[in-house]
Amino acid sequence: MSPTTIESILQEERLFQPPDTFSRTAHIKSMEEYQRLYNQAQADPEQFWAQLAEQELHWFQKWDKVLDWQPPFAQWFVGGKLNISYNCLDRHLTTERRDKLALIWEGEPGDSRTFTYTQLHREVCQMANVFKHLGVHKGDRVGIYMPMIPEAAIAMLACTRIGATHTVVFGGFSAEALKDRLLDAEAKVVVTADGSWRKDAIVPLKEQVDQALAGNAVPSVQSVLVVKRSGQLTHMDPGRDHWWHELRADASADCPAEPMDSEDPAFILYTSGTTGKPKGVVHTTGGYNLYTHITTKWIFDLKTDTDVFKGADIFWCTADVGWITGHSYIVYGPLSNGATTLMYEGAPRASNPGCIWDVVEKYHVTIFYTAPTAIRMFMKMGEDLPKARDLSSLRLLGTVGEPINPAAWMWYYQVIGGERCPIVDTWWQTETGGAMLTPLPGAIPTKPGSATLPFPGIVADVVDLEGNPVGDNQGGYLVIKNPWPSMIRTVYRNPDRYRSTYWEHIPPKDGQYLYFTGDGARRDRDGYFWVMGRVDDVINVAGHRLGTMEVESALVSHQAVAEAAVVGKPSEIKGEEIVAFVTLEEGYLPSAELVKELKQHVVREIGAIARPGDIKFTEALPKTRSGKIMRRLLRSLAAGEEVTGDTSTLEDRGVLDKLRS
Ligand code: WTA
Repeated sequence: MSPTTIESILQEERLFQPPDTFSRTAHIKSMEEYQRLYNQAQADPEQFWAQLAEQELHWFQKWDKVLDWQPPFAQWFVGGKLNISYNCLDRHLTTERRDKLALIWEGEPGDSRTFTYTQLHREVCQMANVFKHLGVHKGDRVGIYMPMIPEAAIAMLACTRIGATHTVVFGGFSAEALKDRLLDAEAKVVVTADGSWRKDAIVPLKEQVDQALAGNAVPSVQSVLVVKRSGQLTHMDPGRDHWWHELRADASADCPAEPMDSEDPAFILYTSGTTGKPKGVVHTTGGYNLYTHITTKWIFDLKTDTDVFKGADIFWCTADVGWITGHSYIVYGPLSNGATTLMYEGAPRASNPGCIWDVVEKYHVTIFYTAPTAIRMFMKMGEDLPKARDLSSLRLLGTVGEPINPAAWMWYYQVIGGERCPIVDTWWQTETGGAMLTPLPGAIPTKPGSATLPFPGIVADVVDLEGNPVGDNQGGYLVIKNPWPSMIRTVYRNPDRYRSTYWEHIPPKDGQYLYFTGDGARRDRDGYFWVMGRVDDVINVAGHRLGTMEVESALVSHQAVAEAAVVGKPSEIKGEEIVAFVTLEEGYLPSAELVKELKQHVVREIGAIARPGDIKFTEALPKTRSGKIMRRLLRSLAAGEEVTGDTSTLEDRGVLDKLRS
């Protein structure tokens, strides 16, 4: 964890007040109102959440008990029955919103499609019926390996509609990574597309699925549903593979939403941890629906009128649906609120570096939510690109995924937001389901680089390893002190790992369980949180979480590699990049060729997001006497810093000298 610097303390003095014009129409209009909500939630959390659940969601049957907390296992709205897909679609159909745009989609080549709530509902019902036809029942798992096309969201909503548990695998993951996740989830059906447009080329997704399933490697998978997107010749396995457009032709658009128990699983999403094997984070129905709904509404100050002249928002979250941000803030949060959500297939590329701003201009996007890595990349591409477009429709900006440096924050504020848009820097995780530390834009003054204050109902703190709160501006571990509706319920088929990862690093304090986030943070004199990044063996590359052990396992699966240690190194644009220290097996020699080969090997094993920026060969790795690799030393070396601190536990001091040279 980086130490608190004088510079960052000075930055705090820069307070940005919410503009009056913004606050006047905001859902939460003032600091007093935020504080009132916060206190109310703290005084009686169950009453607070129950009231919101009642007001904001449709329930087929009301719960018997708001919260059943058997630490560390929580159940919310016990006995309640609802359906997320119903809350996202059906309930809007009896209102004026039925003809409102639910989803705007822009393809990379410039094609586009739009869906009103009525149209989206129809598509979802049809896909749900296709799933049923393929033998999917309530409780079955469906893998979704899709490009950023409407059918990705349609597949998710079709799953939750019939009570199937989806597990979306980011389309940038390799066949190998896909296979691991499908195996762990025991998926019955996989939904994919022939290919996806990415930087003016076609990525053949279906080929990856074929590779993942080759030789009946995932025996649970019975069918593959393929959406035609890119149109190239695609091999179809008779009996196993089906074209969506063919099955859709005969699929009924009548598919009532299944009343789900509030604690029935909604989805599993795999995320990297500190071991070689990704964890299946399990989210359930009622609590997830409620928390993503209310955070979308209050944090993005969402206006869900049907009329643009009354301020109806066009909400664009640039994440991929393969990540939790896409689940919560492209699909479930915005649709549950009845908003218009925008989905874009493309990315800035040589042929159109300003495409992001073209999309903002074309659709009059009002709320734009992206990652600091993207902002730093936009900054590098220069002001001319955004300035050549009309971005005046924007009224709110957001960021997520990594700490944002004050310089990028200021650029975003000035160049993109024209100094009129508040910025919400939202801190959260796959495990938290929705944003936890965040400004409410009409109420909470912001400081560049700080995710500010906890959302009402969330009790956060910065503590030491014994769970004692540390003082103002002292670095420590960020923890959450109370259960919240959208918290991770367990690690799929591995409750022990759930317990040990999140609840045992820091022991319960005075009988209170503390959720360990894995992040380091400090809190300033105003109670504002400054998240500094991971303190565990997780690297955050361009806002993507990667386990060092995952990359290490990928490297040692190559015949030339004896041992590998992976660390993060600060990177100007991506926040961090991967540096691997590798020792070779007898008979292999370091070479530029081998570096290339090993990088490629990691891409094959995990995906392009895990490609090491640098590979350094070494004769030995610095280890303690008990054989633990001293990553701290490697991190300093990778960053080109002086190795400081205690090195007395090193087994062989000579290793360090060799590495230095
Ligand atoms: C980091 C993404 C600083 C953090 C929603 C966390 C952040 C990890 C912020 C979760 C932020 C996310 N400021 N750091 N605003 N938001 N992080 O699971 O290290 O992909 O633990 O969820 O991203 O990444 P995940």
